[in-house]
Amino acid sequence: MSDMIKDIRALEVLDSRGNPTVRVFMELEDGTRVSSSVPSGASTGEYEACELRDGDKKRYGGKGVLEAVKNVNEIIAPALKGINATAQLEIDKKLIELDATKNKEKLGANAILGVSMATVKAAAQSHHLEIYEYLGGVEACRIPVPCMNILNGGEHADNSVDIQEFMAVPFGAPTFKEGLRYVAETFHTLKKLLKDRGLATSVGDEGGFAPNLKSNEEAIEIIIEAIEKAGYKPGVDISIALDSAATSFVVGKKGMYDMKWSKLGKKTTDEMIEMAKEWVKKYPIILWEDPLAEEDWEGFKKFTKELGDKIEVVGDDIFVTNTKFIRRGIEEHAANASLIKLNQIGTVSETVDAVKLCYEHNWRAFVSHRSGETCDTFLADFTVAMGTGHLKSGSASRSERLAKYNRLLEIEDKLGDRAKYYWK
Ligand code: PGA
Ligand code: ZN
Repeated sequence: MSDMIKDIRALEVLDSRGNPTVRVFMELEDGTRVSSSVPSGASTGEYEACELRDGDKKRYGGKGVLEAVKNVNEIIAPALKGINATAQLEIDKKLIELDATKNKEKLGANAILGVSMATVKAAAQSHHLEIYEYLGGVEACRIPVPCMNILNGGEHADNSVDIQEFMAVPFGAPTFKEGLRYVAETFHTLKKLLKDRGLATSVGDEGGFAPNLKSNEEAIEIIIEAIEKAGYKPGVDISIALDSAATSFVVGKKGMYDMKWSKLGKKTTDEMIEMAKEWVKKYPIILWEDPLAEEDWEGFKKFTKELGDKIEVVGDDIFVTNTKFIRRGIEEHAANASLIKLNQIGTVSETVDAVKLCYEHNWRAFVSHRSGETCDTFLADFTVAMGTGHLKSGSASRSERLAKYNRLLEIEDKLGDRAKYYWK
């Protein structure tokens, strides 16, 4: 029986925020049937591949994806029928050619990625392989450290905290299973601490708490307290990672940073870097993503010069998983790691290229979910296949977040003694 593509169909479904997204169904000649669903960001980088939305205000406030669905059904499906699902490179190339725009605005990266991921899934299933095995081969045995976003702010919450993500990183745990337990226990302890202080325990888009705190530093301090109360040593068992998502609070052409949610006021790039240096000295911070805005390349360079030997400096909006920007970042020493989001670039092959480019230059690759997610667990397998050693998939609440962590538990269990877990 052949692994040739027999049928591709797409459907408009809803993501974790209740916004429309694309689900792609693929069937092979041998009877293999898979589906894949595409995530969606809120604090998006300007140069991300285009997420095609209908713009018809009468449906979902303009957020419908019927055009993208139509593009899968009417343009992509006929073009890919009869090709073997194992021909990933050929299929991704064809998708890029069919679109023929720089940022995938004709077909939509949401249409293209759905098909690209479904192709990987179908090929793996048809050949009786796990997705991580099919993509990563026998070497795929490194389970990532789960950087768990336990406190949300910025665009992902309606509170008084500017930094978008405060992550607990169980890098000192012996296994993924234990690491996940460390940070899930910390999450529950944090809930209790917040409750005892009369603070809100409702959660933001990625499942972390979103309390109204007096400052960003108070958020770090209460997390450290939670780590200790849960029975762990900050900086030894669990460290802290931050994602400022600073593009979302940069203002004006001069590039001032307006810490508007905490009402801390406006800061220059240099003041932001000074603040970061102080925090890194004071707190067990291991990784800092988007400490500055996507257009602030000079600031990123300065930040990396000051802190790059102490912490992992990750670029998200500035690189948008695009080898063109990552290459420039490597040449200009603008960071020492890139965030990796499949839908920022739009095909699995291009995402693999982005990870490989990082590795070739001794950079780390930090795989990430989006703030709008589905229960698709492709990300977990992809991370193991790439052996990146860390991923972020939100908190210990909201099933779309836990689906990925639970899949990693399965993979670790399946790998048995072969499974590896380490930070660097
Ligand atoms: P997003 O947030 O999915 O809303 O872009 C995630 C991130 O900034 O890393
Ligand atoms: Zn980010």
